Amino acid sequence: MQRKNIVVFGAGSIGAFVGGSLIAALADVSLIGRAAMRGRIECHGLVMSGARGWEARVPGAMVRFSETAQSLCAADLVIVAVKSADTTEAAGQIFHLAPRSALVVSFQNGIENVSLLRSRLPDNVVLGAMVPFNVVQLPDGRLHRGTAGDIVVEAHPRWQPWLQVFRSAHLPLRPSAEFREVQWGKLLLNLNNAVNALSGKPLRTQLQERGYRLVLAASIEEALAALAVAGIRPAQLGDVPPERLPALLRLADDAFAQAGGALASIDARARSSMWEDLEAGRLTEVEELNGAVVRLARSQHREAPANDMLCTLVHAAERGGDRHIEAHSLAERLASRCPSLHA
Ligand SMILES: NC(=O)c1ccc[n+]([C@@H]2O[C@H](COP(=O)([O-])OP(=O)(O)OC[C@H]3O[C@@H](n4cnc5c(N)ncnc54)[C@H](OP(=O)(O)O)[C@@H]3O)[C@@H](O)[C@H]2O)c1
Repeated sequence: MQRKNIVVFGAGSIGAFVGGSLIAALADVSLIGRAAMRGRIECHGLVMSGARGWEARVPGAMVRFSETAQSLCAADLVIVAVKSADTTEAAGQIFHLAPRSALVVSFQNGIENVSLLRSRLPDNVVLGAMVPFNVVQLPDGRLHRGTAGDIVVEAHPRWQPWLQVFRSAHLPLRPSAEFREVQWGKLLLNLNNAVNALSGKPLRTQLQERGYRLVLAASIEEALAALAVAGIRPAQLGDVPPERLPALLRLADDAFAQAGGALASIDARARSSMWEDLEAGRLTEVEELNGAVVRLARSQHREAPANDMLCTLVHAAERGGDRHIEAHSLAERLASRCPSLHA
């Protein structure tokens, strides 16, 4: 079979992890990213790690990396892995440089990136992919995968030539005909990104504290109510059905440690990418996540006070405000606006 060219647009945590795993499996991959990632690759190569000591290494000399987007000209598959705020810019470059025959896939969180790419790239097939796992860039240069799960992709015949390529890279793709439900299922879990970013703590430590879980439970409950009105049944992504998440999160700490499953036993080093954004002084994706719930609720003439408040606090943190908010303090701040907090 003729070798197919993969271009990763946005070689950050997810893009470099996915791109690096594909290179390690000898796929033909070009990465588009920033000088900081180029420096990391020159210094350490690409080192991907995961559960149970799994590790894959690619020497820097094997990595095709560019800070410009020219490699798009030869793309058969474009993986879009920039943050949501950069999607419009990425779409413009793909439109100008990539062949119309290239398959374009958004590996991003949020609901609206795929439709934005589709509207800007009317001649390309544009599909969504939901990445269920978390990748964090460790100080020693490693891209560490902290959680498990297969990448779910919007079902389409264009995936056929790529399934084996991703399987060889230990990144099996699972096509789904109900992708909107999958996106919302992921978004429900991503509502914790804001809570995590505001806590300043690793995910496991943050989820061990009930005050944070109460806030998360309230934000998920608001989303579930809005989705029910919209007739959308979010997919179950972990071991807990979405409608049971609020009750699980409200358990006392000991009971949550017993019953919390994957949520309670998350890798001790895992952090949310929203926390990374605040650390790096970047804008976050809070509007694409908690903001999407607020917008959906408002379209139904309802309020979503927990998500609204989380948006406000994260925007304040983006401008230098508090991002080490203790659990009781966050819960108290929300309690006045959100009667369901302790429900
Ligand atoms: N990290 C995770 O664990 C995870 C898990 C699942 C899904 N996701 C989703 O995946 C997407 C990417 O997240 P991420 O955490 O991987 O983000 P990230 O680490 O910020 O990576 C994106 C990279 O793309 C770069 N970039 C943006 N525009 C560019 C351009 N025009 N040319 C070259 N490079 C450009 C960014 O540089 P600058 O920072 O300089 O803009 C950044 O280095 C998000 O939608 C996120 O929600 C992330």
